[in-house]
Amino acid sequence: MSTSYKDLGLVNTTEMFAKAVEGGYAVPAYNFNNLEQLQAIIQACVETKSPVILQVSAGARKYANSNLLRNMARGAVEYAKELGCEIPIALHLDHGDTFELCKDCVDSGFSSVMIDGSHHSFEENIVLTKKVVEYAHANGVTVEGELGVLAGVEDDVVAEQSHYTKPEEVIEFVTRTGVDSLAISIGTSHGANKFTPDQCTRNADGVLIPPPLRFDILEEIEAQLPGFPIVLHGSSSVPQEDVETINKFGGALKDSVGIPEEQLRKAAKSAVCKINIDSDGRLAMTAAIRKVFVEKPGEFDPRKYLGPARDALKVLYMHKNTSVLGSANKA
Ligand code: G3H
Ligand code: 13P
Ligand code: ZN
Repeated sequence: MSTSYKDLGLVNTTEMFAKAVEGGYAVPAYNFNNLEQLQAIIQACVETKSPVILQVSAGARKYANSNLLRNMARGAVEYAKELGCEIPIALHLDHGDTFELCKDCVDSGFSSVMIDGSHHSFEENIVLTKKVVEYAHANGVTVEGELGVLAGVEDDVVAEQSHYTKPEEVIEFVTRTGVDSLAISIGTSHGANKFTPDQCTRNADGVLIPPPLRFDILEEIEAQLPGFPIVLHGSSSVPQEDVETINKFGGALKDSVGIPEEQLRKAAKSAVCKINIDSDGRLAMTAAIRKVFVEKPGEFDPRKYLGPARDALKVLYMHKNTSVLGSANKA
């Protein structure tokens, strides 16, 4: 028996994106796999009065169990109400790679799915994406497609090199598939190892700055598809404090630089209306947990290290909503 997202109190992304495009901000899409991540997302988005997209990867569904995740999303809607603010909440499949996976998510209560056909040829991507759109739209579920390939690691698949989205392809892709939003590649990449210090230059304050995002490509895409919702994946900023804390307390992360927040802020004011952030949350949690383990080696109650990790995540998400995406007070 299938479940509609409407019965879970969720919304699809149509209205969220229309408002975001109109208002010049981006809706946060935060990945979650467990209770503490979900608590932090909801607490932060309620306190900042931000709409939110709860994002679940195929790997996350496998890890946490799809029934549990779906019911956690239902619980999140009720939790937000209990906290005093009815924010719009979508449940979104991140990087769906097959029609069957997308269909399963539509049938089990997701309000939005991504079909990532970006590793296929243009024609194959269109055929696959259109098939997902037809099924999803018949159920009121919105669909994100992708054109162009991001570098980095996603669900254990490593793409060494990015291929920027070709602006001349976007109209045909959107028209023939009927997607509701389009993920593009303009220089962001997945994971915590985005740019090495060697690939960066230093600004006047000595801060490492990676090669700028290709705003020229974004502008061309926007000119081709005025008012159409654009999505940025791979948008973690890799806070250096978190990397330092992790390494100070026994971690071994490589020196790496993420996407500068000012560039994300600029993107959020344009046609970009959904920004995906996962790695920054992983770093914040790991830093908090490692600190407890080293400073309080006698602690063995999971609440005593997952609690601080949850608090650190909440601070991170409040900051993103307020100072980077501009989604605070838009619920
Ligand atoms: O883009 C991928 C997301 O960060 C999800 O990562 O597949 O390891 O859950 P995951
Ligand atoms: P980050 O790895 O930069 O957080 O990107 C996450 C993402 O794009 C999820 O789809
Ligand atoms: Zn992604």
